[in-house]
Amino acid sequence: MTNTNTGSYQFEALNDAQFQTQRLQQQAQAVRSLETSILRGAGIQPTHDVLEIGSGPGFVSDLLAELAPQGSLHAVEPSPTLIAQLEGNVRQKPARGLFSHQAYGDALPLADQSIDFSYTRFVLQHVPKPQAVVQEVFRVTRPGGRFCAVDSDDGLVLFHPGEPRVDHVLHSAQSIQASQGGDRFIGRKMQEMMLQAGFTKVKTRVMMLTSSELPFPVLFNILLGYKASLLGDAVDLAKLFEDLSADVAAGRRLVAAGVFIVSGERA
Ligand SMILES: C[S@@+](CC[C@H](N)C(=O)[O-])C[C@H]1O[C@@H](n2cnc3c(N)ncnc32)[C@H](O)[C@@H]1O
Repeated sequence: MTNTNTGSYQFEALNDAQFQTQRLQQQAQAVRSLETSILRGAGIQPTHDVLEIGSGPGFVSDLLAELAPQGSLHAVEPSPTLIAQLEGNVRQKPARGLFSHQAYGDALPLADQSIDFSYTRFVLQHVPKPQAVVQEVFRVTRPGGRFCAVDSDDGLVLFHPGEPRVDHVLHSAQSIQASQGGDRFIGRKMQEMMLQAGFTKVKTRVMMLTSSELPFPVLFNILLGYKASLLGDAVDLAKLFEDLSADVAAGRRLVAAGVFIVSGERA
């Protein structure tokens, strides 16, 4: 595998890999029922051949396998460490098989028009050429097949009252991630990217997650956990969490973050 498109999430280079795996597991479990309705709403069917790009350790793959039990699941992931964990985290293999591919999203090792439903979650923000990934998804999608992309956008992060340390973490992470080829404002761009690739019936939905709906440790990790890895020791995240959580628990501080959910169809 030639490494031409490493972006802002290279698992083997993270300084806190074990924490990041736990964070992905917590993040998948906390929103599992919500994500089930997102995936069903986006068109996943029990018999589908499903593709997941950037599957990580496989916690979301497990849900995809559950929702398409009579089909197949192709998980594409560049990290050899994460791909090795995938099999163990998908509890029930789909009837037509679970296939893991160590590959990048802009060079999918799949035949043209071989997939019914593709999903990518918190991946396009890390990829230097996201349009090329969306284009590849279009190539492998069967006519009538569907694609759903979920990603964040820092324009939809809200702390009230504000906290200067949070602003500092967000701004620093934006520039570090951009310098590595990522984009913390990808959410708003996905609709246009899907249309450009040729998808039709493209629809965007924004879902807000708030500190009164999700446990604060989960929301905090979703919002700031990966950024902590980018920033290293520059910010004491444990202290920031401690300082914010009492206020959040008492309802004195509201934290909210938006997630973009964009789906489309290949005519
Ligand atoms: C934040 S993690 C999300 C993992 C999983 N989708 C989830 O939501 O739990 C980003 C994942 O994208 C993978 N990734 C990074 N660059 C990629 C690329 N060019 N193509 C496919 N996957 C990529 C990373 O290795 C990592 O597993």
